[in-house]
Amino acid sequence: MNAIIIGCGYVGSAVAQHWRNLGHVITATTTTQDRLGELQKVANQAIVLKRCDEETLQTILQNQDVVFLSLAPTANHQVDSDMYEETYLHTANNLVLALKHFPNIKQLIYTSSSGVYGNSNGAWVSELSPVAPADRHAEILHETEQVLLSASSPDLKVCIFRLAAIYGPDREFKKRLSGLAGTTRPGTGNQFTNWVHLDDIVSASELALARQLEGVYNVVNDVPITARELFKQLCERYELPEVEWDGSDAAKRSNSRRISNQKLKAEGYQLIHPEVEI
Ligand SMILES: NC(=O)c1ccc[n+]([C@@H]2O[C@H](COP(=O)([O-])OP(=O)(O)OC[C@H]3O[C@@H](n4cnc5c(N)ncnc54)[C@H](OP(=O)(O)O)[C@@H]3O)[C@@H](O)[C@H]2O)c1
Repeated sequence: MNAIIIGCGYVGSAVAQHWRNLGHVITATTTTQDRLGELQKVANQAIVLKRCDEETLQTILQNQDVVFLSLAPTANHQVDSDMYEETYLHTANNLVLALKHFPNIKQLIYTSSSGVYGNSNGAWVSELSPVAPADRHAEILHETEQVLLSASSPDLKVCIFRLAAIYGPDREFKKRLSGLAGTTRPGTGNQFTNWVHLDDIVSASELALARQLEGVYNVVNDVPITARELFKQLCERYELPEVEWDGSDAAKRSNSRRISNQKLKAEGYQLIHPEVEI
C-alpha cells in the first residue's frame, strides 16, 4: 500500500520505518527542510509540507491508500491555543475537504490524545466515557477528532488513536523527569498518570492497518501509575534525591484518570510494554 505520514516526528518516524519494513511505500512530511535527510532513511520519499491548505493536501494525497496524521506544533515551548488551532483544526478541516477528491483512500489514522478525557478523579475511563477537556488545547484536540470522524464513510475508515503520554527511546523517564528530582511538587502526587511506549503505538498502528480499524481507540498500557509512585521509582532506580509533595490543593486541579485499553485488546492487541519501565 501507499501511505502518507503527515507530520513525521517522533511517532510518525517510528510508524514510517515499521510500515516500510512491512513492505508499504511511505511518503513522510516535515515542516523542516533540514529533516529531509533523516526522513529519507525511514521513508521511501520525504517532502516538506508547511501549509496544510486544501490545494496542497490534494497534491500530496495523489496515489495514496492510507493517511497517518500525527501532527504536533513545532516548538520547544508551550504554544498558545491559536497555534494549536492552526496546526490541528485547520489541517483537519482542509484534509476532510481534500479527501473528498480521493475515493481510493481507504483509511485515515489520527493520533489524538487521552487529554480529551480531562479529570475523572481517578476513575477508569473508556472510549464510551464522556470527554471533558480541561482547557482550550484539549478542546481543540477533541474538535479535531470530530472533524476527522465526519469524513468516515463505508469507503473511508477513520481511526482515532487517543494516545497516553508517550515514552520510549530518547524520551526515557530519566531524561524527561529527573530534572524534578529533589524538588517539592504541588499537591499530593496521588493523581494517576497514563503511559504508552512508542513500540506499542507502532504495533497498534500495524493492527489498525491490518484490521481496518475505525472509530476511537485508547492506546495506553495496562497499569496507570500515580505521579508519586512514578517519581519514587525513578529516584530509587537512579539514586536521585526524592521528590516531595506539599499536600496543597493543586492536585484537585490536575487531571487524574485511569484509561482503559480494553477496546484495543478486544481487537486482539497484545501490549509489548504492559507497564512502565523506568
Ligand atoms: N508526546 C506525547 O506524550 C503525546 C501524548 C498524547 C498524544 N500525542 C500526540 O501524538 C502526536 C505525535 O506526537 P509526536 O511526539 O510524534 O510529535 P512531534 O515529534 O513533535 O512531531 C510532529 C510532527 O508534525 C509536524 N508539524 C508540525 N506542525 C505542522 C503543520 N502545521 N503542518 C504539518 N506538519 C506539522 C512536525 O514537523 P517537523 O518535522 O518540521 O517538526 C513533526 O513532523 C501528536 O498529534 C500529539 O498530539 C503526543
